[in-house]
Amino acid sequence: MSFVALASAKGSPGVTTLAASLAATWPVGRELLLIEADPAGGALASRFDLRADPGLVSLAAAGRRDLDEEVLGQHLQQMPGNGSATVRLLPGPVAAEQASVALSALRGRLAEVLERVPGDVIVDCGRLDAGSPALELVNAGTLLALVLRPNVADVHHASTRLAALSPRCLVGVVVVGDRPYSADEVAAAVGAPLIGTVPADPRAAAALNGEVGMRRGIERTPLLRASRKLGEQLIDFLAMNDALKAAG
Ligand SMILES: Nc1ncnc2c1ncn2[C@@H]1O[C@H](COP(=O)(O)OP(=O)(O)O)[C@@H](O)[C@H]1O
Ligand SMILES: [Mg+2]
Repeated sequence: MSFVALASAKGSPGVTTLAASLAATWPVGRELLLIEADPAGGALASRFDLRADPGLVSLAAAGRRDLDEEVLGQHLQQMPGNGSATVRLLPGPVAAEQASVALSALRGRLAEVLERVPGDVIVDCGRLDAGSPALELVNAGTLLALVLRPNVADVHHASTRLAALSPRCLVGVVVVGDRPYSADEVAAAVGAPLIGTVPADPRAAAALNGEVGMRRGIERTPLLRASRKLGEQLIDFLAMNDALKAAG
C-alpha cells in the first residue's frame, strides 16, 4: 500500500487540523493509521485527551533493533470513535527535541514499515525543511500533500521549498481557505497540481482541536464536509496509483 504525507512549508496553515478532520471523516469500514511525525512535536494526544505514551517515543525505544508491523501495532492508540473508520494513532511527543530524537532513531525503518502496512496511512510531517528527520517519510510515501493558505507568503515558501527539496514522491497542494487567491491560482503559482481545498472554518477547527466545546454535530461543519470529500479523493488517487504500480 501507499501512504500520504501532509506537510507545510511555512507557518501553521492547519496541517494537524487537516489530519484530524480527515481522520474524523474517513469512510466507514476502512482502517486508517495516523502517524504524527512532526519534528516540532505532536499535538493530537492532548487535543484528543489521549496519553502521549504509547506513541512515537515508545516505538523508537522498542524498535531500535527490529521494527515490523506487529511492533508498530503495539504503540498505537485508538482515536475516539466517530462512527466512521477505525482510526489508530501513533501520537508524537509534545516536546520538539523528543520528537526529533525519536524520528532520527527510527530513520530508515519507520518509512519501510509504513509502506507495508495494509490499510490507509496518513503521516503528519509538520513543517518541511532540508534538515527535517521527517523528510525520508515524505520521500518514501506516494503523495506529498503540501498544505498552505492562499496568500503570497505561503505560495512563495511552498514553491521555493519544493524546488529545494525536490521530493521523490508525487506532490500536490491542499489549500486552506479561498482568500485572497483561489485554489487554482495558488496551485498554478506553486507549480503543483491541486489535490483539493478545505475552507477556513475557525469554529470547526477550534472544536475539533478541543479548544472550544462542540464535538457533537461537528460532522456537518464546512471543514468536515470538505475533509470527507478530500479523503475520498485521496483514497481514489491511492487506489489508482496502486493499480498502476501493480500493472507495471
Ligand atoms: N481550516 C481551518 N480553518 C480555520 N482555522 C484553522 C483551520 N485549520 C487549522 N486552523 C487553526 O489554525 C491553528 C493551527 O492549526 P494546526 O492544525 O495546529 O496547524 P499546523 O499543524 O499546520 O501547525 C489552530 O488554531 C487551528 O484551530
Ligand atoms: Mg501541526
